[in-house]
Amino acid sequence: MTRTDPARHCHVASTAHQAAADAARLISRIICRAVAERQECNIALAGGTTPRMLYVALAEMVCDCDVPWGSVKVFFSDERDVPHDHLDSNFRAAQRTLLDYAPIPPQQVFPMPADAEDLDEAARTYEALICDTVPPEEAGVPRFDLILLGVGADGHTASLFPDSPGLNEADRLVVSHRVPSLGRSRMTFTFELINAARNVMMLITGSDKADVVGQILGAAPSSLPAARVRPTDGELFFMLDAAAARNVSI
Ligand code: 6PG
Repeated sequence: MTRTDPARHCHVASTAHQAAADAARLISRIICRAVAERQECNIALAGGTTPRMLYVALAEMVCDCDVPWGSVKVFFSDERDVPHDHLDSNFRAAQRTLLDYAPIPPQQVFPMPADAEDLDEAARTYEALICDTVPPEEAGVPRFDLILLGVGADGHTASLFPDSPGLNEADRLVVSHRVPSLGRSRMTFTFELINAARNVMMLITGSDKADVVGQILGAAPSSLPAARVRPTDGELFFMLDAAAARNVSI
């Protein structure tokens, strides 16, 4: 793991599968440390297709009794405006690859209600649930032990897309907003909540992400949404494969 600045670590694996396996081992260590220190671990899972190999790798480690899954609480950093049993649901993807296998009590798994009638009210309710469940840092913002994120080829992360209203949200921790490029609504963590985390992991693989990875990790400042993930007092891990890292000199 290469440190590129005080709290940013870059790891490049040869393949996407190896990147997922390496990320799973790091997540297991984060969970073990959180539970050893605070008797609980609050994590937020990412959506999209990239993390599915990671969730399978974590599920394959479940028999590793060292990971205290029973003390883990699971949230989601974003969700699509579909029911939780829909093919496009981030919750459904995590459920089918990890949550159906890891011994996490169902009452400790909190899907995002991103298909509610009143999306703003649903976002406020999910934010209140996080505030009631995840202990805060000094400024009062709930501090996740781990927030897992992906990055889109347009530089979005979670559902913070270019030109989306939630990009510059400074007060709310969870918002629902319409994403112009999708023509759909999404529910998402805001940077206020993301950057309060102890650990943020961005798992990015594939040659289609090489350009945005080069911008995010390059020397020149980037206006991409994913470049605004900068934990205030936490660690940022980029878990990459060689294809996604081809424009980065590490
Ligand atoms: C989502 C995700 C989103 C995702 C990126 C990358 O709901 O789609 O949260 O932010 O991480 O779009 O998606 P892929 O992993 O499918 O490339």
